[in-house]
Amino acid sequence: MYHYTELGEVNTKDMFRKAYEEGYAVPALNFISIEQFNAIIDAVIEKRSPVILLASPNLHRQLGYEILARIVQSGIDRIHGCGLDIPVSLHLDHGMTFQHCVDAVEFGFSSVMIDGSALPFEENVALTKQTVEYAHRHQVTVEAELGVLSGAEESGDGEGNGESLYTDPHQVEEFVKRTGCDSLAISIGTCHGLVKIKPDPDGNLPELRYDILENVMRRVPGFPIVLHGASAIDPRFVDMINAYGGRIESVAGIPEEQITKAARMGVCKVNIATDGWISALANTRKILAENPQAIDSRIFTLKNRELLKEIYLHKIDVLGSAEKA
Ligand code: 13P
Repeated sequence: MYHYTELGEVNTKDMFRKAYEEGYAVPALNFISIEQFNAIIDAVIEKRSPVILLASPNLHRQLGYEILARIVQSGIDRIHGCGLDIPVSLHLDHGMTFQHCVDAVEFGFSSVMIDGSALPFEENVALTKQTVEYAHRHQVTVEAELGVLSGAEESGDGEGNGESLYTDPHQVEEFVKRTGCDSLAISIGTCHGLVKIKPDPDGNLPELRYDILENVMRRVPGFPIVLHGASAIDPRFVDMINAYGGRIESVAGIPEEQITKAARMGVCKVNIATDGWISALANTRKILAENPQAIDSRIFTLKNRELLKEIYLHKIDVLGSAEKA
């Protein structure tokens, strides 16, 4: 057990204050492999961007908390070794129970999400408040969620149904006041997974509900707002997956200019998982198909790191966080 400061992390408080004041969003990037983690660190070093590393409860089941913390520490050491002081937070993505959050705090996470969004309002308030009271005793920041995003939050490899229950701006002020949470994920039309939005009959993609975002921000001025489900789903990678044996039928991501607009309006943190996963998987399928004699996974892991780095460099530009460390 150890505190996140021992690993060189910071919590999200100052990251969000600066992001809000300067009109950009901090990239919050899920990783599920060492090469993906290394690619994130490569990109933030090159761009001098703050970063939030997202680990879901699935990831710590895969790796164990102890190893996860040490991986993050190794990335921070590498940043310091370059003479840089980039703010890094390890954040629990979609903690579903109070115990998930306790485990994370005890193993070096500087920030946790308690996701009570599927619960009735009062139960979400109670669970969030309990988590905040515990986490704040350890100087760990807490993200909560109000409004429901559809899609595969846990694994990210399922399909969303394109419907979301938008956040009710009238509930936000009361929720923030009563829970004491440090940031809030809201639902304005983004969605986890591969199918986020449906084109209208003329083929036009709907816009995010900026009116809801504005309304929320008016009610809690300066309070950090978070967007989940923000992947763009590049059809090139979907086509590549299908060309090499996959079967993914329909996709529709969030156009990146809509995410840039939300970041400029005051969204402080944007979560991206699926864009990383599909690009690495597409690349892996292609390389394996082209090298049927391969017996060593490094034939694709090294190439995946390069590809993922390019993707994260681009995402940092989309969110405006370059040179903000
Ligand atoms: P995407 O599925 O759009 O990448 O969203 C990931 C996310 O919000 C994780 O919490």
